This record gives sequence, structure tokens and C-alpha cells, in this order.
Amino acid sequence: MYVALLSGKNIDMAKVEVNSISNLYVEKTLVGRVLLFESDDSINFSKLGLTHEGGIFLGKNIEDIDFNVFSDKNIKISVLNLKSELNSLLFSKKIGEFIFKKGLNVDFNSNNVLRVYLTVNGVYFTKQVFMQDKKEFAKRASSKRKFFMPTSIDSMFARALVNIAGAKKNVSVLDCFCGSGGLLLEAAVVGADVFGCDIEEKCVKGTEDNLEQFGFKVTAVTGDALDVDSVFDKKFDCVVTDLPFGKSSKIVESKKKLYSSFML
Ligand SMILES: C[S@@+](CC[C@H](N)C(=O)[O-])C[C@H]1O[C@@H](n2cnc3c(N)ncnc32)[C@H](O)[C@@H]1O
Repeated sequence: MYVALLSGKNIDMAKVEVNSISNLYVEKTLVGRVLLFESDDSINFSKLGLTHEGGIFLGKNIEDIDFNVFSDKNIKISVLNLKSELNSLLFSKKIGEFIFKKGLNVDFNSNNVLRVYLTVNGVYFTKQVFMQDKKEFAKRASSKRKFFMPTSIDSMFARALVNIAGAKKNVSVLDCFCGSGGLLLEAAVVGADVFGCDIEEKCVKGTEDNLEQFGFKVTAVTGDALDVDSVFDKKFDCVVTDLPFGKSSKIVESKKKLYSSFML
């Protein structure tokens, strides 16, 4: 059984994202941000935008843990208190004593991490397999891109959206309101072939510049999303987009009409 520590920004969306990259997802429990789920063996937590940590569930009682899952005797204990009334420091000490009695060593430099979540619904012991590197996402934040658009979606959310849409290697992804290319950038990072269209020529150029800045290629064209069939003579595996929500001189249709026409 797997454990994911979801981002508190949007737990429902984070759950859907985990489901989207797992072949046999079965949710077992959700306690606050701690999600327990079953899946196939190849879950790749590092693809996810809205999951901060990933691990293997070891049990709710320390006595039940099979310490053979760790590659050697040196174990780092890492406790995270998620609104529990337990004292994290005292609890860490107790775990340390238990580990010592088992003939294992507590080693704060070890890569074998016993990650422990203290929740309102008890304690979850896990073997940590993934810790999100937020700096990686921050590198691609809209403020760090050559062409900046204030309406561009946060890169972790963008990653979640492209995963949910089905972006992956050898899959073609279209964003027909591509703006500065924030969604396409995350789709490219997970290996998809990316295509964009925007009614504003400066956005098309900006998308090209932004993708190039991070070493990716995009096919971007100026055109109207409502007439996308004449913009691209091609079908796509998936579409991921965020529609305009501010004021724009180029949006001649009312937004209501634009939204309903596009959704059809
Ligand atoms: C919310 S922004 C997209 C932001 C984008 N996801 C990003 O990361 O920068 C919406 C974009 O839709 C474009 N747009 C508005 N009406 C359009 C239309 N009819 N067809 C294509 N693009 C359109 C705007 O120029 C704007 O760049």
C-alpha cells in the first residue's frame, strides 16, 4: 500500500492527479492530507505536481513494522505532526528507543527514511520513497520565464492539470488558449509533444520563447480556439487549457459565449 502526502492547496485535485498516474488506483483512507491507496508497482511520485511526499505504508503500530524493507540497519527517523496532539519530539525519541532495541541504528544521514505522520486519526509509519523538490517547480514559475503573463497558472497546478489530462511521453497535447505556455511547459517536462494556439501573436511568440528557455520545442500558431480545426490539420491525444478570465481587447465574443462555444 502507498502513502501520499498531498498538497493542502487542493486535496480533491491532488487525489485525482494521483489516480491519473496509477493504473490500479484504489483509495483506502484519506486523513487530512495523508492519502493511503493501492496501486500497481510502478507508481512514479516524481511526476506529480500536488503531492509533496510519497512512500510505502508500513503500519499504524511500530510493533507491526517489518524493518527488512529498509536496505540496511541505519535508519533516519523523520516525524511530521499533522494536527495531532502528540508531542513530535517525545514521539521521535520513543521510536528511536524502539529501533535501538531492535538492533538498528538511528542515523540522521541515512537514506533509509522512516517517515512518520502524526494525524488526528493515529500514526502512519511509512518508508519514504519520494520528497518533492519545490525548487524545481519554482525554476519554471511565470516570474522566471522570458515571457511573463500574470494570469499564468502556478507550475504545480499546471503539472497536476496536464497529468489529469493524460500528458506523458509520446502523447500529443494541445492548449488552444496557450498564453505564455505555462501548461505546455509542464506537459513538455513529462515528455509530451506539445502544441499551442493563442489569438494573440505575442503570446504565441512568448510560448515559443518560454519553452525554448527550458530546452523544449513547441508547435505554436496564432489562431482562434473556436476554429481550432482550421488552425491545426491534426487530431490531439489530449487538450488541457485554462480559458481567459480577465478583460482582453481581442475577445470580441462575450466570455459566456466563448466558454459555451468552446465546451461544445
Ligand atoms: C488565462 S490565459 C492562458 C494562460 C496560460 N495557461 C499561461 O500559462 O500563460 C488565456 C489566453 O487565451 C487567449 N485567448 C482569448 N481568446 C482566445 C481565442 N478565442 N482563441 C485563442 N486564444 C484566446 C488570451 O490571449 C490569453 O493568452
